[in-house]
Amino acid sequence: MIMPEKPISFVTIPSLQAKKKRQEKIVALTAYDFPVAKIIDEVGVDFILVGDSLGMVVLGYPNTIPVTMDEMIHHTKAVTRAVRRALVIGDMPYFSFHLSAEDSISNASRFLKEAGAKAVKIEGASKKRLKLIEAMVEAEIPVMGHVGLTPQSIHRFGQFKVRGTESVEAKKIVDDARNIEKAGAFAVILECIPEDLARTITEKLRVPTIGIGAGPHCDGQILVFHDLVGLSNGYHPKFVKKYADLQTAITKAVQKYAEEVKQGIFPDAEHSYHTSGKGEGRK
Ligand code: KIV
Repeated sequence: MIMPEKPISFVTIPSLQAKKKRQEKIVALTAYDFPVAKIIDEVGVDFILVGDSLGMVVLGYPNTIPVTMDEMIHHTKAVTRAVRRALVIGDMPYFSFHLSAEDSISNASRFLKEAGAKAVKIEGASKKRLKLIEAMVEAEIPVMGHVGLTPQSIHRFGQFKVRGTESVEAKKIVDDARNIEKAGAFAVILECIPEDLARTITEKLRVPTIGIGAGPHCDGQILVFHDLVGLSNGYHPKFVKKYADLQTAITKAVQKYAEEVKQGIFPDAEHSYHTSGKGEGRK
């Protein structure tokens, strides 16, 4: 008799929101490909964001502006093929939600229909953006908001730096987060803001806040995977904690391989096929 597989308790939007009520921290990471998404999902993170940080940590762009819808869909598909439990959220790239509402909703729907994501994330809280969030929710597309440092505003901000350190901008960030909640978003990312401001927002909102560089008082935390494992080049914000140094580990492995090939050490008998060998497959 074939036993059914053990049922998996999928993470859903209501189950994420219930965590806030129970004061249980939400754990999230970004991912952009199958093998990493599989590891992260099996560890048990609650949600995986296929962030447009893809552009900077995987595709080698200087910022997130050049990332396209097709690139996002391609990578989101790879992630959803790997994930069995976590909620997968697709990040709307720059200029995929800036023209008409019809255009924007059509782009957002691709994450759900083509790529298998369960929700989308949108930066910003202008009046037009809030209306768009309402329209997306009405079209059954769950939306996560994003305030504070919004990387798609890089040219307006001039640089990636902490936002909301003075009172006028701090108040605006609080209002933005509340308006995003009112528009129907199921959660809000708070990026690179002082921890006391993040605490205020977290206390005011019913939906979960997810911090990245926003201190310990948010309902959950997210980091860019490549930052966490020490595999991102260039800019390292203060809030990034490196839990591994893969850059060094990979460099050493590649150096050793190159040396062994040059010296004729690799491939050795163990890693070669032999005419006498029986049943030798890929191994
Ligand atoms: O694109 C991304 O990875 C993000 C996170 C930093 C929240 O938006």
